[in-house]
Amino acid sequence: MKILLIGSGGREHALAWKINQSPLCKQLICAPGNAGICEIADCVNIKADDVGGLVKFALREAVNFVVVGPEVPLALGLVDELITQGIAVFGPTEAAAMLESSKAFTKDFCTRHDIPTAKYDVFTNVSDAKAYLDVMDAPYVIKADGLAAGKGVVIAETRAEAETELDEFFSGKFGGAGDCVLIEEFMTGHEISFFALADGISVLPLIAAQDHKRAFDGDKGPNTGGMGAYSPVPGFNDEKKIMDEILIPTVRGMAAEGTPFTGVFFAGLMMTKDGPKLIEYNVRFGDPECQVLMRRLESDLLDMMIKAAKGKLAQVDLVTWSPNAVVNVVVAADGYPGTYVKGETIKGVEAANLMEGVQVFHAGTTRDKDGALLSAGGRVLNITAVGMTVVQAVERAYTAIDEAIDWPGGYVRRDIAKMAIKGK
Ligand code: AMP
Ligand code: GLY
Repeated sequence: MKILLIGSGGREHALAWKINQSPLCKQLICAPGNAGICEIADCVNIKADDVGGLVKFALREAVNFVVVGPEVPLALGLVDELITQGIAVFGPTEAAAMLESSKAFTKDFCTRHDIPTAKYDVFTNVSDAKAYLDVMDAPYVIKADGLAAGKGVVIAETRAEAETELDEFFSGKFGGAGDCVLIEEFMTGHEISFFALADGISVLPLIAAQDHKRAFDGDKGPNTGGMGAYSPVPGFNDEKKIMDEILIPTVRGMAAEGTPFTGVFFAGLMMTKDGPKLIEYNVRFGDPECQVLMRRLESDLLDMMIKAAKGKLAQVDLVTWSPNAVVNVVVAADGYPGTYVKGETIKGVEAANLMEGVQVFHAGTTRDKDGALLSAGGRVLNITAVGMTVVQAVERAYTAIDEAIDWPGGYVRRDIAKMAIKGK
């Protein structure tokens, strides 16, 4: 089959690496890809949000199957367009992608289907929102309804801070994404990312992974897209509860409402003392979580994605995973998630890839006309390492960073998977 993968991050490099291992894949094309993806796939320079351009290309090239990596093309209806053109695709329709593109939709959906989540209300004007603070306790969780690249959530410690934030949300801090604002009850517990595939009617559990959202060690600094991940998550044994109380009701509810969900669920969950509660849904793989999942997955990903797209996920009887630990440490440009420079030379990726258990996935990278590797984004490299234990995996990843990767302008968190080592 001729496969078209959409996206250009570390997630897509990991997906490309895994899809290429499938006997079903005869040719892999990626739009637009990055320097790492271009080593293992044919890259075509069409942006991930150019829905018209992507559909035209898929038709012209007679692509058999499309895999969509990021959320933006899903929210723009790329899947709907491809289906209209008769092209098979893995990912939710625009209506089903509302589970990520509208937090208000998702919370109201949870209410309709009795899915455990934080208490909340939705507001379209600032005075009603401020009045609601009277019935909530600090800290206050304030969220923009729409897609805001993971930045549309504020936890305000005091009432005064919450009111200031509400003024800013309603005066366009997040553009159109903030026209509608949610205020939620603050949940305490441990956060986890859980993944599952769905084919519109049934849902197949994958596994859990742990992200590290903050920029600096000790969970300090601003939120990022994610600075590292690991899997398995020691002590995690809540799969049945998550499936029974959250994912199965979601897939059934979406089907019952006429917007069946096909693709991958990425459930952001808070493990509270009352059990798992949904923080949010994403409707695509997590980045950097996907990279560790792909390194542990032994089953044929492409085969499962095709079955999901055909409504035949029930034919997958067993998903097998390596019992080994996998860690992913992100190398980001100094200054990320704020301002940073691009175009710096990076050396040592080949040397890192030769080290035991190590596989580097590129994110924001490109090449100059002489073939030298250059930084081209905020998150630039993902150093993944497999080990018999999480301690070994962590050691291998940091050894590769310290002894092989040569990029003075990059930084890493030094405490990825520290919690797993402590056994928490
Ligand atoms: P979201 O984009 O909705 O996942 O929110 C971003 C982050 O804010 C989450 O990963 C949590 O760390 C935090 N958060 C969101 N909602 C809540 C909540 N209701 N209670 C506590 N923390 C939350
Ligand atoms: N790692 C979080 C995300 O992909 O949104």
